[in-house]
Amino acid sequence: MAHVIVIPYPAQGHVIPLIELGQRLANEGVRVTFVNTEVNHKLVTSTWTEQESFKGLMNMVSIPDGLDSWEDRSEVGKLTESIMKTMPGKLEELIEMINNEGTHKVTCVIADGCAAWAIRVAKKTGTKSAIFWPSSVASLAPALSITKLIDYGIIDNNGLPIKDQTIVVSQTMPPIKPSNLPWAFVGDMETTKAVFKISVDVAEAATMTEWVTCNSANDLEPDAFSIYSKIVPIGPLLASNRLADQTGHFWQEDFTCLKWLDQNPVCSVIYIAFGSFTLFDQRQFEELALGLELSNKPFLWVVRPGMTKESTVSYPDGFIERTRARGRIVSWAPQQKVLAHPSVACFLSHCGWNSTLEGVINGVPFLCWPYSSDQFSNQTYICDIWKNGLGFDKDETGYITREEIKGKLEHLVSDKTFRGNAMDLKGKALVNVEEGGSSYKNLSNFIDWIKIKMP
Ligand code: UDX
Repeated sequence: MAHVIVIPYPAQGHVIPLIELGQRLANEGVRVTFVNTEVNHKLVTSTWTEQESFKGLMNMVSIPDGLDSWEDRSEVGKLTESIMKTMPGKLEELIEMINNEGTHKVTCVIADGCAAWAIRVAKKTGTKSAIFWPSSVASLAPALSITKLIDYGIIDNNGLPIKDQTIVVSQTMPPIKPSNLPWAFVGDMETTKAVFKISVDVAEAATMTEWVTCNSANDLEPDAFSIYSKIVPIGPLLASNRLADQTGHFWQEDFTCLKWLDQNPVCSVIYIAFGSFTLFDQRQFEELALGLELSNKPFLWVVRPGMTKESTVSYPDGFIERTRARGRIVSWAPQQKVLAHPSVACFLSHCGWNSTLEGVINGVPFLCWPYSSDQFSNQTYICDIWKNGLGFDKDETGYITREEIKGKLEHLVSDKTFRGNAMDLKGKALVNVEEGGSSYKNLSNFIDWIKIKMP
């Protein structure tokens, strides 16, 4: 029997889609061992409910990331360095331990593209391996183009932009901009170095594996898949997950907001969520609150504890009281279920790829508010290529004002073209994962390959 190790990069936006992949494989009779870091394993299992569908299907295990449990894992540079030092050895030990037990030897390692170090471990242990990229092809393109970007003098050997030249790869693909390179978006050099190292690693690993799969679809990124032809679309996985129950959350979902949504008219509610690690400064956070108030529409807003740079989240004076009748604030929502709810009119989002796919497969139009990494290219897909949403304009001080928020919300909701385009895109995306669709066929072939014994 095939036995796959699935290993995500240790962040919420990676663990969720990798679990979706693991679930799909387990449904097809593949034995799956899912490897979280110890800290994330605790978070994920502490939010389990009795109905967690993957229990029993996947074996959930953990290895240390090398940091002490109390250390801050939001420092990407420090975390990445520690991961690279500690996790390869620990993964190798885990594989050896499983193999020595003898009954179900590991036959394949599937590594998140941001955990490409695991591909080297697979090679070392004589196990076949594949990459799963949990975001768009467009977001992998800069990593795969590093050599060219250096040769053309656009970045230096450390990934830092030298000249501000935009590269248009195709009209239906977000351009590669030096200012928005996944590793160049951050202020501190440690993070830039770490993300650049991850990008160099995935580019190298992509040449070492037979399969580079991606949580996207031909109809979402047609040109990208034909240009980067080694990358194989198998998504959107969440749309093909027959158990239809998203798992792997680091925080407890607040299901009471679904009942609240039931009480609101169809297509009336603005859903606002910024993924798992976007940080707001206080002024911008207040401006968002006041924009929602000014819009005078029902809203469901996810405000994670610690979402602002201040130690506690604080709302404008009287905001909570004034909006209580039509606003609901939760600290973590069952987002896929929220987006599938008929009351939701639009999604004000940071455009993380998972959020993007979740909005797309539910035909929900977007208001885009990207902060970092691939979120800018996802915004370009939404606003300029798919045309199922709008972006914001900042004022001269670099802030998005309450009036801008109100204006864009009104524009998005009143102009039915956006909803129409979103529904068309939903149809296209779903065709890919239905029986006979290209992602469906690719995933079937991938699973067949997983099941084949190595010679
Ligand atoms: C990160 C990066 O920021 C993103 O750009 C990249 O594409 C993936 O990794 P994150 O910022 O957390 O992810 O955003 P996103 O990709 O949207 O993933 C967030 C996940 O958390 C989604 O699956 C979403 O459904 C879930 N979520 C979010 C909830 O379940 N409840 C919430 O309240 C908020």
